[in-house]
Amino acid sequence: PAPLRALADRADVRIGTAVNMTALADDTTYRRTTAREFSSVTAENVMKWESVEPQRGTYDWSKADALVRFARDHGQAVRGHTLLWHSQLPGWLTTGVADGSIDAAELRGILHDHITTEVKHFKGKIYQWDVVNEVFNDDGTLRNSIWLQQLGPSYIADAFRWAHAADPKAKLFLNDYNVEGINAKSTAYYELAGRLRAEGVPVQGFGIQGHLGIQYGFPGDVSDNLARFAGLGMQTAFTEVDVRMVLPVDAEKLATQATYFRGLLDACLGSRSCTSFTVWGYTDKYSWVPGVFTGQGAATLMDEDFVTKPAYGALREGLAAG
Ligand code: G3I
Repeated sequence: PAPLRALADRADVRIGTAVNMTALADDTTYRRTTAREFSSVTAENVMKWESVEPQRGTYDWSKADALVRFARDHGQAVRGHTLLWHSQLPGWLTTGVADGSIDAAELRGILHDHITTEVKHFKGKIYQWDVVNEVFNDDGTLRNSIWLQQLGPSYIADAFRWAHAADPKAKLFLNDYNVEGINAKSTAYYELAGRLRAEGVPVQGFGIQGHLGIQYGFPGDVSDNLARFAGLGMQTAFTEVDVRMVLPVDAEKLATQATYFRGLLDACLGSRSCTSFTVWGYTDKYSWVPGVFTGQGAATLMDEDFVTKPAYGALREGLAAG
Protein backbone atom coordinates (compact mmCIF):
# COMPACT_ATOMS: atom_id res chain seq x y z
CA PRO A 1 0.00 0.00 0.00
CA ALA A 2 1.06 3.58 -0.66
CA PRO A 3 2.75 5.29 2.30
CA LEU A 4 1.25 8.42 3.82
CA ARG A 5 3.59 10.73 1.96
CA ALA A 6 2.56 9.45 -1.48
CA LEU A 7 -1.08 10.08 -0.65
CA ALA A 8 -0.24 13.48 0.83
CA ASP A 9 1.59 14.50 -2.36
CA ARG A 10 -1.59 13.84 -4.34
CA ALA A 11 -3.61 15.84 -1.79
CA ASP A 12 -1.06 18.68 -2.10
CA VAL A 13 -0.23 18.83 1.60
CA ARG A 14 2.90 17.94 3.55
CA ILE A 15 2.57 15.09 6.03
CA GLY A 16 5.12 15.47 8.80
CA THR A 17 6.46 14.04 12.02
CA ALA A 18 8.54 15.21 14.93
CA VAL A 19 11.84 13.33 14.93
CA ASN A 20 13.68 11.98 17.97
CA MET A 21 17.35 12.19 16.99
CA THR A 22 18.50 9.50 19.42
CA ALA A 23 16.05 7.07 17.86
CA LEU A 24 17.04 8.15 14.36
CA ALA A 25 20.65 7.31 15.16
CA ASP A 26 20.03 4.00 16.98
CA ASP A 27 16.85 2.43 15.61
CA THR A 28 16.85 1.16 12.03
CA THR A 29 13.11 0.57 11.90
CA TYR A 30 12.51 4.12 13.09
CA ARG A 31 14.89 5.48 10.47
CA ARG A 32 13.28 3.54 7.63
CA THR A 33 9.74 4.32 8.70
CA THR A 34 10.47 8.04 9.11
CA ALA A 35 11.87 8.14 5.57
CA ARG A 36 9.08 6.06 4.05
CA GLU A 37 5.99 7.70 5.53
CA PHE A 38 6.68 11.45 5.85
CA SER A 39 7.37 14.38 3.53
CA SER A 40 8.17 16.85 6.32
CA VAL A 41 10.18 16.56 9.53
CA THR A 42 10.41 18.66 12.68
CA ALA A 43 13.15 18.36 15.30
CA GLU A 44 11.42 17.24 18.49
CA ASN A 45 14.18 18.84 20.58
CA VAL A 46 17.46 19.49 18.78
CA MET A 47 16.71 22.93 17.32
CA LYS A 48 15.62 24.34 20.71
CA TRP A 49 17.81 26.95 22.38
CA GLU A 50 19.21 24.68 25.13
CA SER A 51 20.33 22.23 22.43
CA VAL A 52 21.94 24.64 19.99
CA GLU A 53 23.63 27.02 22.47
CA PRO A 54 24.28 25.04 25.67
CA GLN A 55 27.05 27.46 26.72
CA ARG A 56 26.86 31.11 25.92
CA GLY A 57 28.41 31.73 22.52
CA THR A 58 29.12 28.04 21.95
CA TYR A 59 26.86 26.61 19.28
CA ASP A 60 26.33 22.93 18.61
CA TRP A 61 24.48 22.31 15.38
CA SER A 62 25.54 18.67 14.99
CA LYS A 63 22.19 16.99 15.74
CA ALA A 64 20.11 19.59 13.95
CA ASP A 65 22.37 19.42 10.91
CA ALA A 66 22.05 15.64 10.92
CA LEU A 67 18.28 16.00 10.68
CA VAL A 68 18.54 18.49 7.81
CA ARG A 69 20.84 16.05 6.00
CA PHE A 70 18.46 13.15 6.60
CA ALA A 71 15.63 15.25 5.21
CA ARG A 72 17.61 16.22 2.13
CA ASP A 73 18.57 12.60 1.49
CA HIS A 74 14.91 11.56 1.64
CA GLY A 75 13.27 14.46 -0.17
CA GLN A 76 11.66 15.85 2.98
CA ALA A 77 10.97 19.46 3.91
CA VAL A 78 12.02 20.72 7.35
CA ARG A 79 9.89 22.68 9.82
CA GLY A 80 12.00 24.69 12.27
CA HIS A 81 11.03 24.40 15.94
CA THR A 82 11.40 26.70 17.84
CA LEU A 83 13.15 30.07 18.16
CA LEU A 84 11.45 31.73 21.10
CA TRP A 85 9.85 29.77 23.94
CA HIS A 86 9.69 29.94 27.74
CA SER A 87 10.79 26.29 28.05
CA GLN A 88 14.03 24.45 27.25
CA LEU A 89 16.09 27.63 27.56
CA PRO A 90 19.79 27.16 28.35
CA GLY A 91 20.79 27.34 32.01
CA TRP A 92 23.21 30.22 31.47
CA LEU A 93 20.31 32.34 30.19
CA THR A 94 17.73 31.61 32.88
CA THR A 95 20.34 31.88 35.63
CA GLY A 96 21.69 35.16 34.28
CA VAL A 97 18.22 36.70 34.16
CA ALA A 98 17.33 35.38 37.63
CA ASP A 99 20.49 36.69 39.33
CA GLY A 100 20.36 40.03 37.52
CA SER A 101 23.66 39.61 35.69
CA ILE A 102 21.75 39.81 32.38
CA ASP A 103 19.58 42.96 32.28
CA ALA A 104 16.72 43.69 29.88
CA ALA A 105 18.83 45.50 27.28
CA GLU A 106 21.35 42.70 27.18
CA LEU A 107 18.59 40.09 27.03
CA ARG A 108 17.09 41.77 23.99
CA GLY A 109 20.49 41.66 22.30
CA ILE A 110 20.91 38.00 23.22
CA LEU A 111 17.51 37.17 21.74
CA HIS A 112 18.31 39.09 18.56
CA ASP A 113 21.60 37.25 18.18
CA HIS A 114 20.04 33.84 18.88
CA ILE A 115 17.29 34.24 16.30
CA THR A 116 19.63 35.75 13.71
CA THR A 117 22.33 33.12 14.19
CA GLU A 118 19.98 30.13 14.12
CA VAL A 119 17.83 31.26 11.19
CA LYS A 120 20.92 32.20 9.15
CA HIS A 121 22.52 28.85 9.94
CA PHE A 122 19.57 27.05 8.32
CA LYS A 123 18.82 29.68 5.68
CA GLY A 124 17.18 28.16 2.62
CA LYS A 125 16.72 24.79 4.31
CA ILE A 126 13.62 25.41 6.41
CA TYR A 127 10.21 26.05 4.85
CA GLN A 128 8.32 26.99 8.02
CA TRP A 129 9.71 28.31 11.30
CA ASP A 130 7.86 28.24 14.62
CA VAL A 131 9.20 31.65 15.58
CA VAL A 132 7.13 32.27 18.68
CA ASN A 133 5.87 29.29 20.69
CA GLU A 134 3.14 29.18 23.38
CA VAL A 135 2.99 32.87 24.32
CA PHE A 136 -0.64 32.97 25.46
CA ASN A 137 -2.39 31.44 28.47
CA ASP A 138 -5.64 29.58 27.88
CA ASP A 139 -7.61 32.67 28.98
CA GLY A 140 -6.05 34.75 26.19
CA THR A 141 -3.68 36.81 28.36
CA LEU A 142 0.02 36.84 27.52
CA ARG A 143 2.06 34.23 29.35
CA ASN A 144 4.16 35.64 32.17
CA SER A 145 7.51 34.46 30.75
CA ILE A 146 10.92 36.02 31.18
CA TRP A 147 10.37 37.54 27.73
CA LEU A 148 7.24 39.39 28.74
CA GLN A 149 8.66 40.36 32.12
CA GLN A 150 11.95 41.69 30.79
CA LEU A 151 11.08 42.99 27.32
CA GLY A 152 7.34 43.70 27.31
CA PRO A 153 4.95 42.52 24.57
CA SER A 154 6.98 44.05 21.72
CA TYR A 155 9.31 41.05 21.86
CA ILE A 156 6.87 39.16 19.64
CA ALA A 157 7.05 41.61 16.70
CA ASP A 158 10.80 41.90 17.15
CA ALA A 159 11.24 38.13 16.90
CA PHE A 160 9.37 37.98 13.58
CA ARG A 161 11.28 40.93 12.14
CA TRP A 162 14.63 39.43 13.10
CA ALA A 163 13.74 35.99 11.74
CA HIS A 164 12.51 37.48 8.46
CA ALA A 165 15.68 39.52 8.03
CA ALA A 166 17.74 36.34 8.45
CA ASP A 167 15.77 34.21 5.95
CA PRO A 168 13.20 36.19 3.94
CA LYS A 169 11.81 33.09 2.19
CA ALA A 170 10.92 31.00 5.23
CA LYS A 171 7.27 31.17 6.32
CA LEU A 172 7.12 32.41 9.89
CA PHE A 173 4.61 30.91 12.32
CA LEU A 174 3.01 31.51 15.67
CA ASN A 175 2.46 28.12 17.35
CA ASP A 176 0.48 26.88 20.37
CA TYR A 177 -1.67 24.13 21.91
CA ASN A 178 -5.35 24.32 22.88
CA VAL A 179 -6.03 26.50 19.85
CA GLU A 180 -7.70 23.93 17.57
CA GLY A 181 -11.18 25.39 17.93
CA ILE A 182 -12.48 28.90 18.50
CA ASN A 183 -11.79 29.86 22.11
CA ALA A 184 -10.22 32.66 24.16
CA LYS A 185 -6.70 31.54 23.35
CA SER A 186 -7.13 31.09 19.59
CA THR A 187 -9.00 34.40 19.47
CA ALA A 188 -6.07 36.10 21.20
CA TYR A 189 -3.85 34.74 18.41
CA TYR A 190 -6.28 35.85 15.75
CA GLU A 191 -6.31 39.38 17.12
CA LEU A 192 -2.55 39.45 17.61
CA ALA A 193 -1.92 38.18 14.07
CA GLY A 194 -4.32 40.75 12.62
CA ARG A 195 -2.60 43.58 14.50
CA LEU A 196 0.90 42.43 13.57
CA ARG A 197 0.03 42.04 9.89
CA ALA A 198 -1.64 45.48 9.83
CA GLU A 199 1.63 46.89 11.15
CA GLY A 200 3.61 45.10 8.46
CA VAL A 201 5.22 42.58 10.80
CA PRO A 202 6.23 39.46 8.80
CA VAL A 203 4.06 36.77 10.37
CA GLN A 204 2.70 34.38 7.75
CA GLY A 205 1.42 31.33 9.59
CA PHE A 206 -0.60 30.05 12.51
CA GLY A 207 0.53 26.69 13.86
CA ILE A 208 -2.00 24.59 15.72
CA GLN A 209 -0.19 21.94 17.74
CA GLY A 210 -3.13 19.54 18.08
CA HIS A 211 -2.29 17.73 21.32
CA LEU A 212 -5.68 16.13 21.98
CA GLY A 213 -7.00 13.49 24.36
CA ILE A 214 -10.10 11.41 23.75
CA GLN A 215 -11.22 12.00 27.36
CA TYR A 216 -11.52 15.76 26.68
CA GLY A 217 -13.76 15.52 23.60
CA PHE A 218 -13.08 16.75 20.08
CA PRO A 219 -12.74 20.54 19.80
CA GLY A 220 -15.56 22.38 18.04
CA ASP A 221 -15.27 24.90 15.18
CA VAL A 222 -11.87 23.73 13.92
CA SER A 223 -12.73 24.53 10.29
CA ASP A 224 -14.12 27.95 11.21
CA ASN A 225 -10.96 28.65 13.16
CA LEU A 226 -8.75 27.80 10.16
CA ALA A 227 -11.00 29.90 7.93
CA ARG A 228 -10.60 33.04 10.01
CA PHE A 229 -6.80 32.85 9.79
CA ALA A 230 -7.11 32.23 6.05
CA GLY A 231 -9.18 35.40 6.01
CA LEU A 232 -6.16 37.29 7.33
CA GLY A 233 -4.20 35.97 4.36
CA MET A 234 -2.23 33.54 6.51
CA GLN A 235 -1.20 29.94 6.17
CA THR A 236 -2.22 27.46 8.82
CA ALA A 237 -0.66 24.14 9.83
CA PHE A 238 -1.22 21.33 12.28
CA THR A 239 2.20 21.08 13.85
CA GLU A 240 2.25 18.52 16.72
CA VAL A 241 -0.78 16.25 16.47
CA ASP A 242 -1.21 13.39 18.90
CA VAL A 243 -4.27 11.98 20.63
CA ARG A 244 -3.69 10.49 24.05
CA MET A 245 -5.94 8.27 26.12
CA VAL A 246 -6.17 6.92 29.64
CA LEU A 247 -4.49 3.49 29.61
CA PRO A 248 -5.08 0.62 29.10
CA VAL A 249 -5.70 0.69 25.38
CA ASP A 250 -8.86 -0.95 24.03
CA ALA A 251 -10.48 -1.19 20.62
CA GLU A 252 -13.11 1.43 21.34
CA LYS A 253 -10.56 3.99 22.49
CA LEU A 254 -8.45 3.33 19.41
CA ALA A 255 -11.49 3.81 17.19
CA THR A 256 -12.28 7.12 18.88
CA GLN A 257 -8.66 8.18 18.57
CA ALA A 258 -8.79 7.48 14.84
CA THR A 259 -11.77 9.80 14.41
CA TYR A 260 -9.88 12.60 16.22
CA PHE A 261 -6.85 12.31 13.93
CA ARG A 262 -9.16 12.21 10.95
CA GLY A 263 -11.15 15.20 12.21
CA LEU A 264 -8.07 17.42 12.35
CA LEU A 265 -6.80 16.13 9.00
CA ASP A 266 -10.14 16.76 7.31
CA ALA A 267 -10.20 20.32 8.66
CA CYS A 268 -6.73 20.83 7.18
CA LEU A 269 -7.60 19.33 3.81
CA GLY A 270 -10.80 21.39 3.70
CA SER A 271 -8.99 24.68 4.19
CA ARG A 272 -7.12 26.46 1.42
CA SER A 273 -4.79 27.87 4.09
CA CYS A 274 -3.56 24.58 5.57
CA THR A 275 -0.16 23.58 4.20
CA SER A 276 1.10 20.83 6.48
CA PHE A 277 -0.11 18.22 8.93
CA THR A 278 2.57 17.08 11.37
CA VAL A 279 2.25 14.42 14.07
CA TRP A 280 4.35 14.72 17.25
CA GLY A 281 6.00 11.37 16.80
CA TYR A 282 4.33 8.42 15.07
CA THR A 283 5.25 5.49 17.31
CA ASP A 284 4.37 5.04 20.98
CA LYS A 285 7.92 3.75 21.44
CA TYR A 286 9.21 7.33 21.58
CA SER A 287 6.18 9.43 22.51
CA TRP A 288 6.61 12.19 25.12
CA VAL A 289 3.10 11.59 26.51
CA PRO A 290 3.55 8.84 29.16
CA GLY A 291 6.46 10.73 30.74
CA VAL A 292 4.34 13.82 31.30
CA PHE A 293 0.78 12.49 31.78
CA THR A 294 0.94 9.62 34.23
CA GLY A 295 -1.37 6.77 33.26
CA GLN A 296 -1.91 8.10 29.74
CA GLY A 297 -0.34 7.24 26.42
CA ALA A 298 -0.84 5.34 23.17
CA ALA A 299 -1.11 8.77 21.55
CA THR A 300 0.43 8.10 18.16
CA LEU A 301 -0.25 6.27 14.88
CA MET A 302 1.72 3.09 15.65
CA ASP A 303 2.31 1.04 18.78
CA GLU A 304 5.73 0.38 20.35
CA ASP A 305 6.43 -2.30 17.72
CA PHE A 306 5.55 -0.01 14.81
CA VAL A 307 2.27 -1.86 14.23
CA THR A 308 -0.19 0.59 12.74
CA LYS A 309 -3.35 1.51 14.66
CA PRO A 310 -6.75 2.53 13.29
CA ALA A 311 -5.53 6.15 13.40
CA TYR A 312 -2.95 5.37 10.74
CA GLY A 313 -5.63 3.91 8.48
CA ALA A 314 -7.81 6.94 9.13
CA LEU A 315 -5.08 9.29 7.92
CA ARG A 316 -4.52 7.14 4.84
CA GLU A 317 -8.21 7.20 4.00
CA GLY A 318 -8.46 10.92 4.66
CA LEU A 319 -5.48 11.72 2.45
CA ALA A 320 -6.74 9.43 -0.28
CA ALA A 321 -10.11 11.18 -0.22
CA GLY A 322 -8.57 14.67 0.01
O1 G3I B 1 18.63 16.61 27.26
C1 G3I B 1 18.38 15.83 28.42
C2 G3I B 1 19.38 14.72 28.54
O2 G3I B 1 20.65 15.27 28.68
C3 G3I B 1 19.01 13.82 29.72
O3 G3I B 1 19.84 12.71 29.73
C4 G3I B 1 17.57 13.33 29.63
C5 G3I B 1 17.13 12.53 30.82
O4 G3I B 1 15.75 12.62 31.02
O5 G3I B 1 16.72 14.46 29.51
C6 G3I B 1 16.99 15.22 28.36
O6 G3I B 1 16.10 16.29 28.22
C7 G3I B 1 14.76 15.92 27.88
C8 G3I B 1 14.44 16.49 26.51
O7 G3I B 1 13.08 16.28 26.22
C9 G3I B 1 15.29 15.85 25.41
O8 G3I B 1 15.04 14.48 25.35
C10 G3I B 1 13.84 16.54 28.91
O9 G3I B 1 14.04 15.90 30.16
C11 G3I B 1 12.40 16.41 28.51
O10 G3I B 1 11.61 17.19 29.39
C12 G3I B 1 12.23 16.96 27.09
O11 G3I B 1 10.86 16.82 26.77
C13 G3I B 1 10.44 17.48 25.59
C14 G3I B 1 9.46 18.58 25.93
O12 G3I B 1 8.99 19.18 24.74
C15 G3I B 1 10.08 19.64 26.81
O13 G3I B 1 9.18 20.64 27.08
C16 G3I B 1 9.76 16.46 24.70
O14 G3I B 1 10.73 15.49 24.26
C17 G3I B 1 9.11 17.14 23.49
O15 G3I B 1 8.30 16.21 22.82
C18 G3I B 1 8.24 18.28 23.97
O16 G3I B 1 7.73 18.93 22.83
C19 G3I B 1 6.82 20.01 23.07
C20 G3I B 1 7.02 21.00 21.93
O17 G3I B 1 8.37 21.37 21.80
C21 G3I B 1 6.14 22.22 22.11
N1 G3I B 1 4.74 21.85 22.31
C22 G3I B 1 4.49 20.83 23.32
C23 G3I B 1 5.35 19.60 23.10
C24 G3I B 1 5.05 18.51 24.10
O18 G3I B 1 5.37 18.91 25.39
